[in-house]
Amino acid sequence: MASSELQEQLVKYLTDVHSLEQNALSMLATGADQVGDEQLASAFRQHHAETEEHERLTRERLEAHGESPSALKDVAQKGGAMMSGVVAKAAPDTTGKLAIQAYAFEHMEIASYRMLRVVAERAGDQDTARAASQILEQEQAAAQKLDGLLEQVANYDLQDMGVAA
Ligand SMILES: [Fe+2]
Repeated sequence: MASSELQEQLVKYLTDVHSLEQNALSMLATGADQVGDEQLASAFRQHHAETEEHERLTRERLEAHGESPSALKDVAQKGGAMMSGVVAKAAPDTTGKLAIQAYAFEHMEIASYRMLRVVAERAGDQDTARAASQILEQEQAAAQKLDGLLEQVANYDLQDMGVAA
């Protein structure tokens, strides 16, 4: 692959992960307010703080590749529009459904950062590869935390709905 194509591919991956992070910020903020299980809410809040950092890091890497602020704004608007749909749909959801959504989302991020890291390494962009590794570690920790809460959350929902064993 010609190096300009590699660069283009790298920017696409970066644009996608940046958009994911913007979506994650809205989802986690809304989720933290909506879920009834206190441990899940706290996991959402903690990961929201990390996600702010992920948004900043990926934006900085995009800027390092000469992405203009207007292009970034477009992505932000698209992400926002996509998110408002998800949030509107999520409004009547149970704590369990929000946990499933967050669990799926973290795994989508994990896959994206693993692939971004490969593309960044192939493109010789060590700063992006390093950022991807650093973020990946926190996404994996967040996914693992959610993993440990799923059974508890299912029981929370049953109790919340007044379903007896
Ligand atoms: Fe995440």
